[in-house]
Amino acid sequence: MSSMRSHKLVLFFAISCLLLHEKCTDASVCKESERKALLEFQHSLQALGVSGNDAFFWISEECCLWRGVYCNSFTGYVEMLDFSDQPLVVAGTISPSLLKLHHLTSLNFSSNDFNGSLIPEFFASLKKLKLLDLSNANFRGPIPSLLGNLSMLETLRLGGNGRVFNVGKLEWLSHLSRLKELDLSFTNLSNANDWSQVISHLPLLQKLSLRHCGLPSISSSSLSLANSSTSLTYLDLSDNNLPSSAIYPWLFNVSSNLVSLDLSSNQLKGPIPEAFGNMKAIQELYLNDNLLVLAENQVRGDSGLNEIGKLPDFRVLDLGYNLLNGSISKSIGQLSNLRVLRLPGNSFGGDVISEAHFSNFTYLQKLDLSYTSLTLRFNSGWIPSFQLSQLLLCSCKLGPRFPDWLRTQMDVLNPDVEISSIDYLDISASGISDSLPYWFWDKFQGLSYINMSFNRISGTFPNNSIHIIHLDLSSNNFSGPLPRFSLDYNMGTINLSKSKFTGSVSPICNFTGAVYLTLFDLSNNLFSGVVPDCFGSFPFLTALNLGDNSFSGSLPSSLGSLVSLEMLSLRGNKFSGVLPSSLQNCAKLKFLDLSDNELSGEIPMWIGQKLSSLVFLSLQGNQFRGRIPHQLCGLKYLQILDLSVNKISGTIPPCLNNFTSMAKKVSLDRRIEHHILDTGPRFLSLEGVYGEPIWIIQVRYVDEALLTWKGTKQSYPQLGLLLAIDLSCNKLTGEIPEELSSLQELVVLNLSRNLFNGKILQKIGYIRQLEVLDLSRNKFSGNIPTSLSELTFLSNLNLSYNDLSGKIPTSTQLQSFDPSSFSHNRGLCGPPISPNCSMVEPPPGKPTVGSEEDCDEFMKWFYTGMGLGFAVGLWGFCSVVFFKRSWRHSYYRYLDSAKDWVYVSFVLLKTRLVRRIKGLSTRSD
Ligand SMILES: *[C@@H]1O[C@H](CO)[C@@H](O)[C@H](O)[C@H]1NC(C)=O
Ligand SMILES: *[C@@H]1O[C@H](CO)[C@@H](O)[C@H](O)[C@H]1NC(C)=O
Ligand SMILES: *[C@@H]1O[C@H](CO)[C@@H](O)[C@H](O)[C@H]1NC(C)=O
Ligand SMILES: *[C@@H]1O[C@H](CO)[C@@H](O)[C@H](O)[C@H]1NC(C)=O
Ligand SMILES: *[C@@H]1O[C@H](CO)[C@@H](O)[C@H](O)[C@H]1NC(C)=O
Ligand SMILES: *[C@@H]1O[C@H](CO)[C@@H](O)[C@H](O)[C@H]1NC(C)=O
Ligand SMILES: *[C@@H]1O[C@H](CO)[C@@H](O)[C@H](O)[C@H]1NC(C)=O
Repeated sequence: MSSMRSHKLVLFFAISCLLLHEKCTDASVCKESERKALLEFQHSLQALGVSGNDAFFWISEECCLWRGVYCNSFTGYVEMLDFSDQPLVVAGTISPSLLKLHHLTSLNFSSNDFNGSLIPEFFASLKKLKLLDLSNANFRGPIPSLLGNLSMLETLRLGGNGRVFNVGKLEWLSHLSRLKELDLSFTNLSNANDWSQVISHLPLLQKLSLRHCGLPSISSSSLSLANSSTSLTYLDLSDNNLPSSAIYPWLFNVSSNLVSLDLSSNQLKGPIPEAFGNMKAIQELYLNDNLLVLAENQVRGDSGLNEIGKLPDFRVLDLGYNLLNGSISKSIGQLSNLRVLRLPGNSFGGDVISEAHFSNFTYLQKLDLSYTSLTLRFNSGWIPSFQLSQLLLCSCKLGPRFPDWLRTQMDVLNPDVEISSIDYLDISASGISDSLPYWFWDKFQGLSYINMSFNRISGTFPNNSIHIIHLDLSSNNFSGPLPRFSLDYNMGTINLSKSKFTGSVSPICNFTGAVYLTLFDLSNNLFSGVVPDCFGSFPFLTALNLGDNSFSGSLPSSLGSLVSLEMLSLRGNKFSGVLPSSLQNCAKLKFLDLSDNELSGEIPMWIGQKLSSLVFLSLQGNQFRGRIPHQLCGLKYLQILDLSVNKISGTIPPCLNNFTSMAKKVSLDRRIEHHILDTGPRFLSLEGVYGEPIWIIQVRYVDEALLTWKGTKQSYPQLGLLLAIDLSCNKLTGEIPEELSSLQELVVLNLSRNLFNGKILQKIGYIRQLEVLDLSRNKFSGNIPTSLSELTFLSNLNLSYNDLSGKIPTSTQLQSFDPSSFSHNRGLCGPPISPNCSMVEPPPGKPTVGSEEDCDEFMKWFYTGMGLGFAVGLWGFCSVVFFKRSWRHSYYRYLDSAKDWVYVSFVLLKTRLVRRIKGLSTRSD
């Protein structure tokens, strides 16, 4: 019995050795001094595992068996510390007790979270270090130039720490003469004028990553290139906005052994230099997001570009988002060894690509021709010789028939090619006007990403459930009932908006894996009936749009289970009854549009108390009654408040000046966006921790405001620029509270068709940004305040149908309005309604005031685009996909932190936004 137990123990020990360390030699006996030093170090970190558990299991006496600790198997000294595989959140500061580990050669803290602490200077005293990896570890502050003392260093990685910067020059690096790999990406090197000199004289340097470092430009004259090292094989200078003159002279001196070169997102201008053809070892070339053009000889096909295309190992070419034009089609077929070809965002005229161009592309796996205006015309029955894993043809001309050759991309055709059947398909806006072929869902369900939006694809769905992750079918002609979907452990998004789906949406209760759904858009369809009460199974839903259908009945109370919800639109339906009080649980809501329904009851006070993140609130066009609860003033982020066309009475609560968003200029980008970051397929490890993501997708869901005024629709793609209060068509009484004048950022104020009285706010001119002011059809009396003439942006003014009198104040602005803006008042005079005030107008008949018929009429106007109102639409999906492996950690980290998130989206979208190219970009390895 006891021998059995000890046998088991030995076995257990052997297995845990294998699992945890892959080294179980008897020789590694921990030194007592080192054990103490390690415990001190452990204590200093106050580290937590990412799941909140204690991360260290450093209990046994034998410190060489501790997790992350590696000793020399003969001497027993600690040589390596590697915590990269067990991400920690670190609250303390790293203890210098590590200095007692005199034999330490390798330190890997990559992907831990040091919570913005400084890079410790004492690292510079770990004299034997060959490897120091602090990448993506949330460090902050200056790079200690003392690191230049680490003369044995071969690998130095500080990349992915966006708040780390270098003070002054990079001279300290030149002491690291054994350096083979250097990664400083995302650190701030804007003062390092000597970077290219220092780099080109590191004799052994093979891998260099300086992505997004704000590198300063070097003029070629100040560049000393004598004895430049040519050991570089991997070079990444992307996203530095460097001009050609700062890169080329230096680059072509150090490039003879380059295998991978990334110059994307710089300011490279002019033709692609032929010198690229001299890089005989090159396999991967990223020149995307620059200002490159094709030279005449490159179009003819005898240039460097075609030379490299013939190199047998040349695998990746990315020329996306440049200014390439002219006839690419003549040379495209020559690049026959490519695995990855990306040319999106160039304007190759109306070129036609046919199967002949693709005849040499046996190895192609990833193809991106989006936003090129290329026409792809293949004979039906064509069987390509390649097997793609990613196909992106957004806004190419593919139609009108559905491309039947896609069917072959799920089959294994060429056994010589590494197999990875298609996983990513984007054929949106490609002019397809056809029914979806019967084989499609058989072949294509389960793909990571399918986008077929903005076509005219028709057809119904099969009865069985369809397995999807990200699916965008919006703006098509699909019909029939809502399909049943099934999702799995990946966060998924479904957009079926702007089609012709019909019937009930009760299939949502039978979605498998609904828990993984983050975005669900069924708007602008023909759905009807009652919305089933089964939202309890969607805890991660952040955006739900059921707008512009024919739903009726009351709002399901399980909507209150959507605790992650940021956006809810139910507008344009026939929902009735009161707001379920459960809705107050949706505390993350930023955007709530319930307009144009038949909802009734009072405006609940919890809207102001519990939904305190609201930026947009519209209850327009319902049957709400009672007063405006003063609790509503608690919505300090509110930018649009639309309560128009209801039966609301009472006065405007004076606390409205609590809408601080409207009162202060905030430097923040006020755009309302829903970001959904997904990492593509990944694998669950034994501990239930995510495995490495294969790619990362960012889905941006942007809300757009449409402002309709007298027949012209103005679109505010940045909803944040429009700050508005619309209380028109109600039964509100009293005066405009003085406090309203402190909402200085307000752009639209509509109080028309109410029962307001008293004088118009004397300080109305304080609302400096006002563009639209409608006070018509009330009982305002007295003079028009002179401050009104100070509103220089005012472009729409309506004061008609009131009891106003006296002279219209003089300003270029006020006199330029149509006289109808002032008509039907008791006694207004002066330009523009009369030449001067001596000729007093005969008083008109009794002015009409707000009444129910009046509002019905108003609604008619509204629907014919005559009135003022806000319809907030959704800008659809803009997906940005990053395939590049070396960067995925940095993005992955940003899942946690909204602030960094914004930073990263900004960094990565910047170039394209600046060029106003909307869309989808990709990178690849
Ligand atoms: C540090 O650890 C990570 C994760 O295991 C690994 O990917 C990385 O290559 C290591 N750093 C170095 C410089 O080897
Ligand atoms: C991270 O640092 C901030 C201050 O910089 C602090 O408030 C926060 O508690 C720290 N987090 C952890 C986990 O220590
Ligand atoms: C770095 O080296 C310099 C001179 O080589 C020396 O004076 C200094 O003490 C060293 N610093 C550390 C922290 O070892
Ligand atoms: C980089 O550092 C410089 C000066 O050290 C500073 O002016 C600049 O704003 C920093 N850039 C970024 C993006 O933080
Ligand atoms: C395919 O490759 C052959 C041999 O390199 C070449 O002659 C032919 O022009 C290529 N085809 C196309 C369409 O470019
Ligand atoms: C769908 O769900 C409802 C209620 O949740 C259940 O009664 C019905 O049987 C389900 N239908 C299918 C096809 O699973
Ligand atoms: C308005 O703001 C003031 C000061 O911030 C606060 O005391 C008051 O409670 C707020 N009023 C409402 C109704 O939220």
